[in-house]
Amino acid sequence: MSFIQLEQVTKLFSGTQKPAVDAINLNIERGEIITLLGPSGCGKTTTLRMLAGFEQPSTGKITIGEQVVYDNSNAIPPEKRGIGMVFQDYALFPHLTIEKNVMFGLNKWKSKDRKARAREVLELVGLGDFAQRFPSEISGGQQQRVALARALAPRPHVVLMDEPFSNLDAGLREKMRYDVTNILRKANTTAIIVTHDQKDAFAVSDRVVVMKDGVIQQVASPREMYRCPKNCFVAQFVGKTNLLTGELDKDLKHVRTSIGKVCLPVALNEISDNIKVSIRPEGCQIVAAGAGNYSGHVERVTYSGEYQELYVNFQQNKTSEPMVIYAPIEENIEVGSVVSFNIKTDLVCVVE
Ligand SMILES: Nc1ncnc2c1ncn2[C@@H]1O[C@H](COP(=O)(O)OP(=O)(O)OP(=O)(O)O)[C@@H](O)[C@H]1O
Ligand SMILES: [Mg+2]
Repeated sequence: MSFIQLEQVTKLFSGTQKPAVDAINLNIERGEIITLLGPSGCGKTTTLRMLAGFEQPSTGKITIGEQVVYDNSNAIPPEKRGIGMVFQDYALFPHLTIEKNVMFGLNKWKSKDRKARAREVLELVGLGDFAQRFPSEISGGQQQRVALARALAPRPHVVLMDEPFSNLDAGLREKMRYDVTNILRKANTTAIIVTHDQKDAFAVSDRVVVMKDGVIQQVASPREMYRCPKNCFVAQFVGKTNLLTGELDKDLKHVRTSIGKVCLPVALNEISDNIKVSIRPEGCQIVAAGAGNYSGHVERVTYSGEYQELYVNFQQNKTSEPMVIYAPIEENIEVGSVVSFNIKTDLVCVVE
């Protein structure tokens, strides 16, 4: 049995027509770091709040460890669920020192144990020397680590974090992704992190749960989700992609699309005339003029720093969306020129 189980969990807020969370099923293993990823309003925070016990499901069952924390006959209050929560704005007490902030969640502990535990978790998050400062005297990234230390202090079964990186600038965000994952791993905690940022999700989690309109679209490791997105929504939400529609060839392994025949990584089981394929931009490799299986006109070039994004149009489909291809920055590619390329089959995927 999994450590955390959500079974058919639904939340219909009163006065609304559509459930914010719609019959979701999710199993989480002990020690896993999971992210709930999806666009604004898809039900991420509501799911987290139901796990924490701040919101009651309309129907369904939630189990944490051995304990059924919610079903139709029973609702365990938040403080008895063994949960540590890190809020988006960190919610530190400004009038308390860092140490006292961390000790706050330990009010049932003996006073000497409280202090020792606060020291221990502050060391864990790398803030051993900051115990006597106030929240206003430390940086945003440090405040976040204090919030995490406070959540970890009572040794919760699971840590829940809502948009933990959204208040941080790009550079600090990258560092905190690394720091937070390291701290969670060292503390050996199960964690569920909410984010609407694909890079956050991919950088920190063992598995990612993509949600849309209250419904789970896919649960997979970052690598699997990127390479084999289940449907068009997931394919587009986790990175850029090109979606093409076409007819399957008799060999069941090639799809005839507007850019030409695209080879699938594995043959399909049956013939179909309406196949959707997702082709990642980095799956398209520029080759010498005329040497590739595909060629098109470069409409636009955008530099990202690490590569250049080419928007390529095909003579046959001038009216449709251009295809996005990543090319190495050292290639000198002019707008209006013709590029020839091949497609790496392992970055092609059939989607629903
Ligand atoms: N208390 C409430 N009463 C009524 N509707 C609510 C309530 N809280 C949330 N909702 C609605 O439920 C849906 C899901 O909201 P939720 O806060 O879970 O989204 P989210 O995925 O966390 O979005 P964001 O990324 O913007 O934080 C939204 O349509 C929202 O308007
Ligand atoms: Mg939210």
